[in-house]
Amino acid sequence: MFFLDSDFKHYILTMYYTNFNFSLINYSTLFQNCIDIVSKYSSNKTLVLEKICNLLKEKIDFYDWVGFYFLDEDKKKLILRCFAGKATEHNEIPIGKGICGQVAKTAKTLIVDDVSKEKNYISCDIDVRSEIVVPIFVDGENIGQIDVDSIIINAFDKNDENFLKQINELISKNLF
Ligand code: SME
Repeated sequence: MFFLDSDFKHYILTMYYTNFNFSLINYSTLFQNCIDIVSKYSSNKTLVLEKICNLLKEKIDFYDWVGFYFLDEDKKKLILRCFAGKATEHNEIPIGKGICGQVAKTAKTLIVDDVSKEKNYISCDIDVRSEIVVPIFVDGENIGQIDVDSIIINAFDKNDENFLKQINELISKNLF
């Protein structure tokens, strides 16, 4: 008789679902990992944000770049505070420019299924095909955003939006 151990089974299932364009992402486990990071390192805001970027990029195969931008004091631009993925030249983004700048202006989540069709877009990496940006609020004020890029077209949906909103609420309540 042939038995599969549970890791191997998980691997086979992941391969199966990935080929059919589904993914087995355990958002609640990942969110619990984020809670653990916040409780362990809450005295060091930048370290928490870095660890969350690394966790998401590592654990979700279509999250190819994850970063946090924050509005600067005079509210004229976004500043990249930390990220996981390829380095970008766009460490500062003017309000209204690109997908990030639009979210800074409207304070509303943006999901772009195909960045080649978005006119107001700043390219950081030619391989990126889709993007999600979710604002961060502290006491109702938009202070920044989480930005995720994928090399897969149409990568993001409501699950990602809700998951990233939860993460933003977690950091906003515990770090700011
Ligand atoms: N694509 C973004 C710029 C930031 S990078 O994705 C890291 C935009 O259009 O605002």
